[in-house]
Amino acid sequence: MSLQIVSPTGGIAPLLRADGVTLEYGGTRATHDVSFDVYRGDRFVLLGPSGCGKSSLLKAAAGFLTPAAGSISVHGAPVRGPGPDRIVVFQEFDQLPPWKTVKENVMFPLLMAKRVSRHEAQERARHWIVKVGLAGFEHAHPHTLSGGMKQRVAIARALAMQPEILLMDEPFAALDALTRRKMQEELGRLWEELRFTLLFVTHSIEEALVVGNRILLLSPHPGQVRAELNSHQFDLASAGSAEFQAATQRIHGLLFGEAAPANAVAHAERAVTRSMDSGLRRNDGV
Ligand SMILES: Nc1ncnc2c1ncn2[C@@H]1O[C@H](COP(=O)(O)OP(=O)(O)OP(=O)(O)O)[C@@H](O)[C@H]1O
Ligand SMILES: [Mg+2]
Repeated sequence: MSLQIVSPTGGIAPLLRADGVTLEYGGTRATHDVSFDVYRGDRFVLLGPSGCGKSSLLKAAAGFLTPAAGSISVHGAPVRGPGPDRIVVFQEFDQLPPWKTVKENVMFPLLMAKRVSRHEAQERARHWIVKVGLAGFEHAHPHTLSGGMKQRVAIARALAMQPEILLMDEPFAALDALTRRKMQEELGRLWEELRFTLLFVTHSIEEALVVGNRILLLSPHPGQVRAELNSHQFDLASAGSAEFQAATQRIHGLLFGEAAPANAVAHAERAVTRSMDSGLRRNDGV
């Protein structure tokens, strides 16, 4: 019988752990003492206002930025640099090399990682291009695609690598509202099918509730943990309901009201749950 790794709290060990992470650029402190655990199959959202260090935390998880204090680990091993186990999808539409076709873009990291043969990379690329709804566009170049289609390519490219954790930094923020909604829906559909682990950055409260099952609220610059809460009960279908609006309002209060101590996680969560009983004004975007 194999031993199951357990955390000090007696639960299953997290896939990714951020432990007291302080991030700095020269003298500028981007985050201060941020801790969170992401478990397998989580859709974990980092939510906070512009400049609070969300992207910096994602970059640190990806291995592009080394913490000034604290650590980030995956399966208990410290992150020391980028790796094929952590793939990032960015907001920018120009993350795809423009001289490569859709299929070549999806194949590229697979070939770079030397994980599979060229034939296998082609097969996988075809598979994932269909999965993200881009059948028929294999030979198109990025400049001939819409923003939403480019983001689909980036998602296919990331999922084709079968990362331990998919890191997404405001991937839908530059899309129009309808496309953004559609992409949120499709991400949800892909997750239902594949149950990958997601670390997702947004500054939209609504998007956090729709995409995430757990949300970490960060204070304004430098980012500190305000609270952590469960949001698995929300999806696009429940957006607009009284419960959803109450949760939105409550999160807004937690983000911009009086600072909650970082260890008040359970308290904040209970507070949000309670607030769902009362229908309040909708207030999205932080
Ligand atoms: N390369 C950099 N050099 C210096 N300072 C930086 C750099 N990148 C970010 N910062 C600073 O670190 C802080 C956090 O930035 P970060 O981009 O992580 O915030 P964010 O929460 O992602 O914001 P946004 O929602 O606007 O994307 C900001 O004060 C920013 O000015
Ligand atoms: Mg950012």
